[in-house]
Amino acid sequence: MAEKRENWGSKLGLILAMAGNAVGLGNFWRYPYQAAKNGGGAFMIPYFGALILMGIPLMFVEWNLGRYGGKYGHGSLGPMVYLQAREGVSPKTAAILGGLAGAIALGVTVLVNSYYNHIIGWTLGYAVQSITGGYMDPAVSTGEFFVNYIQSPVMVFTFWIAALVILGLAVSGGIQKGIEVLAKFMMPTIYIFGIILIIRTLTLGSPVNPDWSPIAGLNYIWSPRWDQLSWTAALAAAGQIFFTLSLGMGIICNYASYLKPDDDIVLSGITTVALNEVAEVILGGTIAIPIAYTFLGEAGLSAGVGLSFISLPNIFKTMAGGQLMGALWFLLLAFAGVTSAVAMYNYVVALLEESFGMGKKKAAFAVFIMYIIVGLPVALEPILTKTADLAYFTEVDNWVGNYLLVVLGLIEVIVAGWIMGNKNRDEMNYGSYWKVPNWFFKAFIQFLTPVSIIILLVMSTKTFIESGYFKFVPDFIAASPQLVPWVQAGRLVVLGVLVLGFIQAYKTIKDKYQVELESGKVSIRK
Ligand code: ALA
Repeated sequence: MAEKRENWGSKLGLILAMAGNAVGLGNFWRYPYQAAKNGGGAFMIPYFGALILMGIPLMFVEWNLGRYGGKYGHGSLGPMVYLQAREGVSPKTAAILGGLAGAIALGVTVLVNSYYNHIIGWTLGYAVQSITGGYMDPAVSTGEFFVNYIQSPVMVFTFWIAALVILGLAVSGGIQKGIEVLAKFMMPTIYIFGIILIIRTLTLGSPVNPDWSPIAGLNYIWSPRWDQLSWTAALAAAGQIFFTLSLGMGIICNYASYLKPDDDIVLSGITTVALNEVAEVILGGTIAIPIAYTFLGEAGLSAGVGLSFISLPNIFKTMAGGQLMGALWFLLLAFAGVTSAVAMYNYVVALLEESFGMGKKKAAFAVFIMYIIVGLPVALEPILTKTADLAYFTEVDNWVGNYLLVVLGLIEVIVAGWIMGNKNRDEMNYGSYWKVPNWFFKAFIQFLTPVSIIILLVMSTKTFIESGYFKFVPDFIAASPQLVPWVQAGRLVVLGVLVLGFIQAYKTIKDKYQVELESGKVSIRK
């Protein structure tokens, strides 16, 4: 298996694909509303703290985990974690850790994409609606337009399937001819569209109120407000770091598994973080927030998830060149989404190739069908219930998109820092242009990062309990009892995928390393 494994075709292709993996809807759709909702300047302090304490160290850990697993022919997380964990604990314990990690990675790559692909579909649909002037009708508010859109089977299914076809074709093309080609086209385009949008944003002036301007919007985000620091903002910021850097998902590890055993990982890992952060805080932070502030003042920032799909279209409706701006904005979102969703898609395909010996094209088709099945409840809920609460989506996202990522990050860093220990540092530095110094490994990967993640997990659990997420009827749908079955269905699906994921990952490890599990000794080495 290892001999036939694909590799990246060029350094540039690898870096753009990895940056594409990280740069996603998280940067342009999720970040602006998280920053706005959590106090702007008060959010940026924990955001940068989490980037340093968790984001950068985990990025090294994941590149390393992936390259290490790839050497043994693995592209999925279960066996990768097994291989590192067996260096410090018995193969049986290592297999259980591998099973847990594999379960969460499958949960994330299958279920985050079950709604992420829909958001890509919405962005494609909205790009078309911008050009054709669909939401420009003054008689229909953009809020109503959005509700009508997600309740329209034609709109939802057309653009969702279109997104899935793009993703399926890219993954079937393979690493070099599919994913690299896609990244080489889409990543530069994202930055170019971003810069055009920023220039237009910064030249908006103060059309509505002399106190509302793009610069005032930037001030709102960039003025630190120490007095407003809160656990809520800190948790949201740390969660954003995981989501935006694609950490705790298995997809950075999967891309790193196509490295050669002596390819650099430290400098490349830092470059991925840097490209993602430029796209997030510079591009993501200088478009949606200043535009909303210029037209609506601070109130415009309270829109939450609706910032991109409701508030901004409302502004595009009235501003000069709004149709073109709208099209660029939604295409930028679509491209960013595609370059991340393709990594989740590829993870599941790699798992089918690795565990069931499927050919790539067949696996890509199987995953296409699977994504349609798991995405159906997200599409059908608004259509059948005539609501716009997206309860199924919210429930699944709460667990896989917010909570389980952190659990997986914890398993990975404990395996790297505590179980594998110094061998992990040596492996990280092997072939790398920059080396991770011993003090950094000890201070961060062995101490600050796991401790911060544990604190994050404990506090998130507390918040989940307080927010009623553990209740049979969670608080967020307390007023809409007809949505209870959708929430319960979401929970069952999450649980089902996790159980299947554990069985699959454990079985893959057992099939390949049975002799080690039986003898209790590590004997298979490359
Ligand atoms: N990292 C990806 C994003 O930001 C998943 O959307």
